[in-house]
Amino acid sequence: MCGIVGYTGDKKAIDIVVDGLRRLEYRGYDSAGVALTNGEGKPLLVEKRAGKLGNLESALDSRFGSSHSGIGHTRWATHGGPTDSNAHPHLSDDGKLAVIHNGIIENYVELKKELLAKGHAFSSETDTESVAHLLGDAFKENGGDLAEAMRMVCKRLRGSFTLLAVHSDDPKRIVGARRNSPLVVGVGKGENFLASDVAAFISSTKSAMELGQDQVVIVTPSDVTVTDLDGKKVEAKSYEITWDAAAAERGGFQHFMLKEIFEQPKAIADTLLGRIEESGKVSLPELESMADALATDVDRILILACGTAFHAGLIGKYAIEAWAGIACDVELASEFRYRRPVLDPRTLVVTISQSGETMDTLMALRHAKSLGAKALSICNTHGSTIPRESDAVIYTHGGPEIAVASTKALLTQVIALHLFALYLGQVSQGTSGKPSSASSKNSRSTLSASEAKKIGSELLGLPSKVEQVLETVEALREMTRGFKDATSVLFLGRHVGFPSALEGALKLKELAYMHAEGFAGGELKHGPIALIENGTPVIAIMPPLGSEIREKMASNIQEVKARGAHVIVIADTATDIPATDFAIRVPATDELLQPILSIVPLQVFAYEMALVRGNDVDQPRNLAKSVTVE
Ligand code: AGP
Repeated sequence: MCGIVGYTGDKKAIDIVVDGLRRLEYRGYDSAGVALTNGEGKPLLVEKRAGKLGNLESALDSRFGSSHSGIGHTRWATHGGPTDSNAHPHLSDDGKLAVIHNGIIENYVELKKELLAKGHAFSSETDTESVAHLLGDAFKENGGDLAEAMRMVCKRLRGSFTLLAVHSDDPKRIVGARRNSPLVVGVGKGENFLASDVAAFISSTKSAMELGQDQVVIVTPSDVTVTDLDGKKVEAKSYEITWDAAAAERGGFQHFMLKEIFEQPKAIADTLLGRIEESGKVSLPELESMADALATDVDRILILACGTAFHAGLIGKYAIEAWAGIACDVELASEFRYRRPVLDPRTLVVTISQSGETMDTLMALRHAKSLGAKALSICNTHGSTIPRESDAVIYTHGGPEIAVASTKALLTQVIALHLFALYLGQVSQGTSGKPSSASSKNSRSTLSASEAKKIGSELLGLPSKVEQVLETVEALREMTRGFKDATSVLFLGRHVGFPSALEGALKLKELAYMHAEGFAGGELKHGPIALIENGTPVIAIMPPLGSEIREKMASNIQEVKARGAHVIVIADTATDIPATDFAIRVPATDELLQPILSIVPLQVFAYEMALVRGNDVDQPRNLAKSVTVE
């Protein structure tokens, strides 16, 4: 939930750190701060301010230009409000050591009591300040070894943390540590970087190193060393970042969210690339290691995710059940953890996460694995924690998603689930994925070769169909402005249209700060229809021609219209629709693929509503891009 950056090298550290924080501001923007070293034994240069990064920048004076090493933090408040004193970094008593933190120290109260009893003075309400004092004491006790101090302190901490620390006695060294919270190393020439996310340093280097649980990293301008908490050296995994810096910039769009909406055709195409043929044959080499298990040892899929990723799971469930004939449940990760789930080795848990760092999803994954389940992750962020702790991963190739509101991640997650559903049907033959046919004796797939072929070609046709939807964006934005004073908007859908309605409602809530609710059409008469009054805006998602629920959805539209609702229908071009106030037309496609097209107008609707309401589209209030606390 916070952005963390560290730099040590020969450049002006303040420039690198502030630029990195700007690229990570989407992770949290309640306050920001920096701590730079300024030569051996010289006092640290520390500045921190509540509010957005600009507040900090205006407080930085020329002294900060002389440093070549330091750390920076942009905060999403957990313990203690967004004030100057609660902003990171936090200092040891002597002011010589500074630390920044992402995560939650669950045992900070007892640690703080112990430190207060030892005479330490506290100047903030944060959990992090206890770490600063512990590190200061450990540094003194072990004769000035910052890395050893970090290892000693981490052994005492419970909860999640990414920590970076600097000490004025050791000005070129930065020491970091992570548990359940992201930290990546950027490896440069004569300089090195540390950050929550590669976006912070991608313009300087594409060589990265991922860190595992309970590992400590020590960086100087010329060296990167990784150890475990006992000080034993560890070989960290290096990788090359495939994104380029431009991809992480806005590219001329007013907001990252609009850019990412328009990137969806390419994101879908990149996620499909090399994975499906016209015949419908799917190849997912990343699943080869579990192909046999999928064929014979799995009889239940359990999808665990949060927010928009959860909605992707709800949509994908229909394809898994329809095309692979396997039971599939979808559950909120934050709920799964706290019930006594009945899992066994024949259950495959599939986590879905754009960031790969969502704490609720990570903890649910661990819980499921502890119960013996195999784990597959669908993720958009290489080297992140959730894929690293899964048995296999299907990466969506959506590119960096910077806006807090998830758009292209959702569509590519659904595409990955569609590929997985087809793959599940194919491997059941124990073959290298020949197109499934219901006639195959041991095929789990319900699809004939021609049906698989039709779905394959529909999937490959989606990028251009999304392009067609994007051509209607201006009209959509115009229509949306007519609803800017609405106090509530209802979203109605059936079958795969129901999770689409849930996603439309979530987008509107998180962007326009409006009350919005998604309903299953069949549930309307069981209560929610009482909400309908004259002028209530209702967005209804019409199933395609030939759907067995088309007539029922048409009746739902009539029912709400008869009670005064102002109805906007999203329907494909082949479907006739009841007379409504506004029709949004999308290209026709297979019923299970329709959400890929019908959700795009819902994204644009929420985007425009946020704009007309003067909200911060890319960084909505109270939210952060990656929720790395429970
Ligand atoms: C969606 O627009 C939100 N940003 C949020 O619901 C998000 O989908 C959720 O926090 C899950 O994030 P993840 O995909 O990174 O795990």
